[in-house]
Amino acid sequence: MPIELQQLNANRSALFYEIRCLLLYSTNFSLLRVTCCVQLHENTTGFPDKAFPRELHSIRSTTTGSSVLLTDFQPSFDQLRSTRPLVVVTGVTCVLDLIAFGLVDEGEYFLCPAPYFSSFLNDLYAKSRARTYDVDIRRDDGPGYQITLENLERAYNEAVLDGLKIKAILVANPNNPTGDILCEEEIRTVLDFAKRHAIHAVFDEIYGLSVHQDCYDFHSVCSIENPVPEMTHFMWGLSKDLGLSGFRCGVLHSKNSQLLKFLRRVSFFSAIPLFIQDWLTSLLKDTDWFEKEYFPKVHKQMEIQYGIATKRLEKLGVRIHKSGGGDFI
Ligand SMILES: Cc1ncc(COP(=O)(O)O)c(C=O)c1O
Repeated sequence: MPIELQQLNANRSALFYEIRCLLLYSTNFSLLRVTCCVQLHENTTGFPDKAFPRELHSIRSTTTGSSVLLTDFQPSFDQLRSTRPLVVVTGVTCVLDLIAFGLVDEGEYFLCPAPYFSSFLNDLYAKSRARTYDVDIRRDDGPGYQITLENLERAYNEAVLDGLKIKAILVANPNNPTGDILCEEEIRTVLDFAKRHAIHAVFDEIYGLSVHQDCYDFHSVCSIENPVPEMTHFMWGLSKDLGLSGFRCGVLHSKNSQLLKFLRRVSFFSAIPLFIQDWLTSLLKDTDWFEKEYFPKVHKQMEIQYGIATKRLEKLGVRIHKSGGGDFI
């Protein structure tokens, strides 16, 4: 084998080895989160011994728990203090599915700034047959991404020229897979753009409490003055920030009365089992533990592992796109 090829293969296997280690780090990291949460619960409460009536009291308590957690740990979620318009179902995947079913007709489109979480394609399409239309948000002036009115308008106009019907824009903040955090101006741009075209603005903030320690300028859409509140929808869940994806808990906040009416009818099909809700409710109520132990530990760990991972990759000559949230590199 020629020397260069040998060298290339050696480099490749070193890279794969590093990537395997990084995956392991991130798996351990998720395990750390789950273990912390499960230990907490085992130490404090047991499963309820009474049978639950079928009414929704438990659903309401998880709702309260999530909103307390969100508002206490991320000031920019403050608007969620009034819990009434929160709907809780089995994961953000389910929220996305319900949103698509409730807002969009078959063959209509969500604009999605790219790159975006690949499962959006399936979540929006599988049942509702809604589709995504990519918005190219690569910066003109260097590497990285930025949402601007120009790139949104360009994508919208192209889609309309092709005869497509755009019904909504879907943004993940912090973003999966880039870990980018939108600045206030970008969020305002999305909201103004949505207003101008009378489309829905959907914000997936499932990584909202997983922001690296030195990036405290995360802004939730809930904290931004909103030109059309009833056309804006916010979602969050326990899968990422608490590492509890197996518990299937996703939250939707919306002020759209028609959507809420629709969700009241259908959300029971995706209700979280009541004993899980009860477990989560007791977990979420322990804000002291979250504040003093869980979040400081997790955020510190995220920073350490991000540092290790980026340094190793840089040593291998891999260019790094600086990430601010989630466990993305
Ligand atoms: C941006 C984003 N939204 C939604 C989900 C799905 O979350 P859940 O486990 O609550 O269905 C994920 C999971 O990876 C995600 O990255």
